[in-house]
Order: sequence, then C-alpha cells, then structure tokens
Amino acid sequence: MTSTTYQPETGRRFHISTYGCQMNLADSSTIAQSLLTRGYVRAEREEDADIIILNTCSVREKAEDRIYGRLGEIYRFKKERPDLQVAVVGCMAQRLGDELIRQVPHVDFVLGTDRQFELPDVLEGREGTDRVMTAFGHEDMDAIEPIKETPFSGFVTIARGCNNYCTYCIVPFVRGKERSHSPDYIVAAVRDMVAEGVVEVNLLGQNVNSYHSGDTDFADLLLRVARETGIARIRYMTSHPKDCSKKLIHAMRDEPKILPHIHLPIQCGSDRVLRKMGRFYSVAHYLRVVDYIKEQLPNVALSTDIIVGFPTETEAEFEMTLDAVRRVRYDTAFMFRYSVRPGTLSAREFEDDIPEAEKIRRLTKLIQVQQQISYECNQAEIGRVHRCLVEGTSKRSQDIIRVRTETNKTVLIANGSPTIGTIVPVQVSSADAFTLHGELVV
Ligand code: SAH
Ligand code: SF4
Ligand code: F3S
Repeated sequence: MTSTTYQPETGRRFHISTYGCQMNLADSSTIAQSLLTRGYVRAEREEDADIIILNTCSVREKAEDRIYGRLGEIYRFKKERPDLQVAVVGCMAQRLGDELIRQVPHVDFVLGTDRQFELPDVLEGREGTDRVMTAFGHEDMDAIEPIKETPFSGFVTIARGCNNYCTYCIVPFVRGKERSHSPDYIVAAVRDMVAEGVVEVNLLGQNVNSYHSGDTDFADLLLRVARETGIARIRYMTSHPKDCSKKLIHAMRDEPKILPHIHLPIQCGSDRVLRKMGRFYSVAHYLRVVDYIKEQLPNVALSTDIIVGFPTETEAEFEMTLDAVRRVRYDTAFMFRYSVRPGTLSAREFEDDIPEAEKIRRLTKLIQVQQQISYECNQAEIGRVHRCLVEGTSKRSQDIIRVRTETNKTVLIANGSPTIGTIVPVQVSSADAFTLHGELVV
C-alpha cells in the first residue's frame, strides 16, 4: 500500500479481532500491515490498545450477535478512556453502515468491505474521510497487499465478491460483485511470500471456479502458481458444485503441489430445496462430480457446508440430506441452522417456517451422523504416512507438536521436535472424530 509517503504515527497501539471466514483473516492481516507501516504498534490485549478494530461477519444472525456482545464489552474501555478509537470494518459494517453508529454510538468508524483498507487515513482524519464509509467501487484491487498468515503459510485472495446470489446468503450484498485479481498479481504475491519463507499458500474466493482473468481460468491459475513461484503446497477455497470443472480436477491430479482437499458445499440433499436456495445444480450432478473427484484423486479429502431448516424443508427432504452425507462420506462438514438475513431473496419471499426447536433437532441429528463418518474416515487413516506441514504446538500442551496433512487434517505428534514450517513424514497411530495422533517417521 502507499504508506511510505506518510509521517509515521508515534506508537499508537491497535488491536484487531477477526470474525467470519478466511477472507476476513486475510483482510485483517492487510489492515494490520498498513497500520504497522504507518508506525502504529500491535497491542496484545484490547485493554492496552488505543484503537480497537473489529473485522466482522454477517453470514448468520449469531455471528452478528457475537459482535454486538463484544461491542458492549468494549464500552467499558471507552468510558474509562474517551480517546480510545473503535472501528468496525468488514461485512457487518458494510451491511449496517450508519445504522450501526445509531445502535452503538461508541463506535467511531464504520468502514465497509471496499473501504476498510483506508483505515489508517480515516484514523488520522485525512481529507475526504468520513465516519461511515460503505460505498462500493473505491477499492484499488492491486493495492491490496496479500499478507502471510504465519511465517510459513499465507492467504492470497484471488477473487473478491460473489455473483451467485444463493437466496439465503448475505455475502453478495456485503462483498459486492465478483472481481478477480490478475494472475500476474497472484503469482507475484506468492513469489514474494516464498521469498519470505512461506511454504503453503491458500488461494481464497467465494467461488474459485468462476475465477477468470483474460484467458486464464482457475485451473490455469493453479498451474501457474505451482510452476512459477517455488511454493511447495497450494490449497484453495471454495468450490461451487455447479462449475467445479474436470479441467480443475485434472490439474489437481497432475500437479502434486495442489493438495488433495476439496471443500465442496452441498448445502442440502433435495433438488427442490436446492432450487429454492438458488444453487443451480441437482443432487445427481453433485454426486457425479464427487464420484469423478474420487476416481481421479484417490487420496482426496472432501469437506462441505450444509444448512438445515431452510424454509419449507420437510422431514423427508432433511432425510435426503442425511442420505447424501452418508453417500459422499465427507471427512468434515460445517453444519448450520438456516438464519434469516435481511435483504436476501429468501428473507423477502419465504417465511422462516421451521421452528427453532425443529432446526436444532435436525442439526443435532446431522452432526451425529457426520461425526460417525468423520470418526470412520479418521480410523481409516491409522497406519498411513502423510507429508505434513509442522504448524506449532497443540493448544493443550507445549510438548505436543501439531502438524497438518495434505488433506487438511490436524495430527498431534508426541515424539521428536521437527522445526516449525518444515514438511515432515508422519504416520497416523490413532484417531477420534476430530483429531489424528501420530508419530514422526525418522
Ligand atoms: N462462498 C462459499 C460460502 C460462504 S458462506 C460457498 O458458496 O460455498 C459459508 C457457509 O455459510 C455457506 O456455505 C452456507 O452453508 C452458510 N450460510 C450462508 N448463509 C447462511 C444463512 N443465511 N443461514 C445459515 N447458513 C448460511
Ligand atoms: Fe453465498 Fe452462494 Fe456466493 Fe457462496 S456462492 S458466497 S453461498 S451467494
Ligand atoms: Fe466471510 Fe462472513 Fe463476510 S463468512 S465474506 S466474513 S459475511
């Protein structure tokens, strides 16, 4: 970003908390970096900060409730220190704009998803800045600096926004229309990260399959990143089943740097509900894609997103979701109750008619079925050797090393002390539904 022309701020401390998806994590890193280059310093705790930033998510009502709760707690700090600045950025800032300041008057700044990278200017009260900025069309795509997440892995957002308008989803409204970064920008970003020691990159987009820039589609982009950057491992999120192409699957088959994990949200197992969700594929099509993936990539791990209790979903249709889950056998799944998002088509047109208790019952049942499958998938891992990236230590113990398989599973190892950021062979020795345990192969 164009930070070098400014006088550095003298050591004001900021704290940034991130809610929502990996794209928000990537954006938070960019915002933090732009503040650091202006001379701000990071505060470890909110109570020590002069500027508190919340990078927010609107995807479900619960996500927004958590942020309101957090803002309530921040009010205490603001009362004690009136010069504290509070900035809300990201998707909820985009959705609510002025309304957020009316509801929570101790918020100083509300910057939407296209304006959040201007935070340093706004904090310094530069000309043309405002307390609430949510207009789209201001983003300078190539000035958004992709930042490494840890010293050895990084996120690069390859496309912003979404054009799909699934009827339940707020993302297209808060993230705007889809726009792709150029392949040259992405290749250069990954190269820069590699030069700084990054070995694994995660390419992000709401629907990576619709990435296109000039003649380059997503499969072409993956191959360019694999061949032109020196990166060791490439991950990506998220695939949309309606346009997950054979070409992409072949690229994964032919290029071992592209790791064998596909996040392919099914959302539900009924064609009628899928149509009402605006997903534009049938369950049969989805299953054909899955079969082809498994045939071409025998070691692949699959994960998914599922919504239960979408308006009018019947018990029989919910059972169809369970059937699809049993048929695909996902390694992991993110499962949600339908949440009305104001402004979306389903909020406007369909009554939220499944009682909350019934949604909870369906979700509990689905989680139970999926957990058994995750357990079985993990049991099948016992004895296998994976090439794993050493990420750190386990949350519970500094003595237990945490590594990640090519298939995006965490393994805890009790022997040896491999260096963080290296790729090592690990044999799985035991497993539950959530974690694998293993040993470093020496
Ligand atoms: N672009 C990604 C998903 C982004 S949102 C994709 O299309 O797959 C992540 C997940 O949140 C979605 O896949 C969906 O399962 C869930 N989700 C989105 N809106 C929701 C809503 N209104 N209620 C419940 N879950 C929702
Ligand atoms: Fe939302 Fe659908 Fe776009 Fe995903 S593809 S972000 S679920 S509208
Ligand atoms: Fe991500 Fe939530 Fe926004 S899922 S795109 S942070 S609404």
